[in-house]
Amino acid sequence: MKLQAVRHLMSSMNRWLYKIKNPNRGSKKTLLAYSVPGWFSQEECEKLYDLTLLTRGSILEIGHFLGRSTASIAEALKISEENRTFTSYDLGFVSEEDFHGFFDKVHKKDVPVPKLAKKIYAQGKTSTELAKRNLENLGLDTYVKLVSGNFIDLDNVTYDFIFCDAIHETNEITLNLPHIMRRSVKNCIWAFHDMSDANINIILEQSNSLFIERVDRLGLFLYLGEK
Ligand SMILES: C[S@@+](CC[C@H](N)C(=O)[O-])C[C@H]1O[C@@H](n2cnc3c(N)ncnc32)[C@H](O)[C@@H]1O
Repeated sequence: MKLQAVRHLMSSMNRWLYKIKNPNRGSKKTLLAYSVPGWFSQEECEKLYDLTLLTRGSILEIGHFLGRSTASIAEALKISEENRTFTSYDLGFVSEEDFHGFFDKVHKKDVPVPKLAKKIYAQGKTSTELAKRNLENLGLDTYVKLVSGNFIDLDNVTYDFIFCDAIHETNEITLNLPHIMRRSVKNCIWAFHDMSDANINIILEQSNSLFIERVDRLGLFLYLGEK
């Protein structure tokens, strides 16, 4: 490629990254997602909303739980009026035994069940059923296909924008990141929750990606494709 063309490409990429970092400074939002219980902060909800408006193409969410992050993406899809595919997965647990059966193996230790998850199991429902109800109440259910189950087993297409809330530490990153890469197109935008400095370094070591920024605990990356 000629030097001028490379310069042009770099400058468009820089402009685009600048937009992702500074979507609309100072504008205060009140998102529908704030009414859904979950661990996602309002600032993180807003960043997901903004990112949805700035990206194009299909969207994958891993870990909708009760639908707080899902509602942030879905509301942006509603506002943008763009017809984009949005698929979201969560493990279909209905009991504390289900939770231990999965996470104790992943973490190789006894993992305590979070209080909010205990409340779900007490209702005998999957998080997907409750997320669906929450999204219906907000008029956002038609913007997303909610799937109960493991994305690794059930999903086999690629996406342009991926939000993952299931890579909180080394074991989960090592388990899920290769499957996320397999489902990412080149230049896919990744938004990963619970990104400590250590987690960001592991992501960069284990993938061909660039770190863009972190907003609260939400880390943004640009996937550069297979090496
Ligand atoms: C921290 S919670 C998600 C919170 C949610 N994003 C919110 O806004 O409140 C993480 C979720 O990821 C789900 N999860 C973990 N591994 C998964 C996998 N392989 N496939 C689908 N869901 C997964 C868990 O069941 C859990 O509900």
